[in-house]
Amino acid sequence: MSGTLHVVGHPLIQHKLTQMRRKETETRDFRRLAREIALLLAYEVTRDRALTTQEIDTPLTKMRAPVLAGKEICLVSVLRAGNGILDGMLEILPSARVGFVGLYRDPDTLAAVEYYCKLPEDIAERETIVVDPMLATGHSASAAVARIKQAGAKSIKFVCLLAAPEGVKEMQAHHPDVAIFTASLDSHLNDHGYIVPGLGDAGDRLFGTK
Ligand code: URA
Repeated sequence: MSGTLHVVGHPLIQHKLTQMRRKETETRDFRRLAREIALLLAYEVTRDRALTTQEIDTPLTKMRAPVLAGKEICLVSVLRAGNGILDGMLEILPSARVGFVGLYRDPDTLAAVEYYCKLPEDIAERETIVVDPMLATGHSASAAVARIKQAGAKSIKFVCLLAAPEGVKEMQAHHPDVAIFTASLDSHLNDHGYIVPGLGDAGDRLFGTK
């Protein structure tokens, strides 16, 4: 599934996303919906996880039962809006290690500037899932993935709520090895780098800062 764009059209995700997009949705509900969609996206992004079997005892008999195998997971949140997805992902992947990359958008150039980075030491041995709700220009996503690769990560997937065609193009140009999972591919970016129709500023709506 390398480099592929996966638009996850599950009806529950689509319904919840519509509620998130509504401008009248309050912070409390917006945050809950982000967590719930993240949980459902976690299910999809881990669909190709390897399984092995282990012998266990049920109350009735012995059996060989499926258990997860292969590389453990590292989640990387792109600060700060990524944290709105991280919580839901951690509910379904409770043993995952967690890293953070802090980037801000230069308001003039829209380029990503790094201000914080803390990643697990064993990231090279893990399957990494990068989370950031909005794949807009793709500059911060691409910079975050480059930073994570620099730290040694080899197997990386990217999860967002909304993607703009511009962001997908940017990611696929710089990181064709990274599969993108999103709940929607929206129409375009406006002149300020916002996704249209979008849902506004994800960080402000998650944390109630505006
Ligand atoms: N970041 C956001 O929070 N919203 C957008 O529409 C684009 C980038």
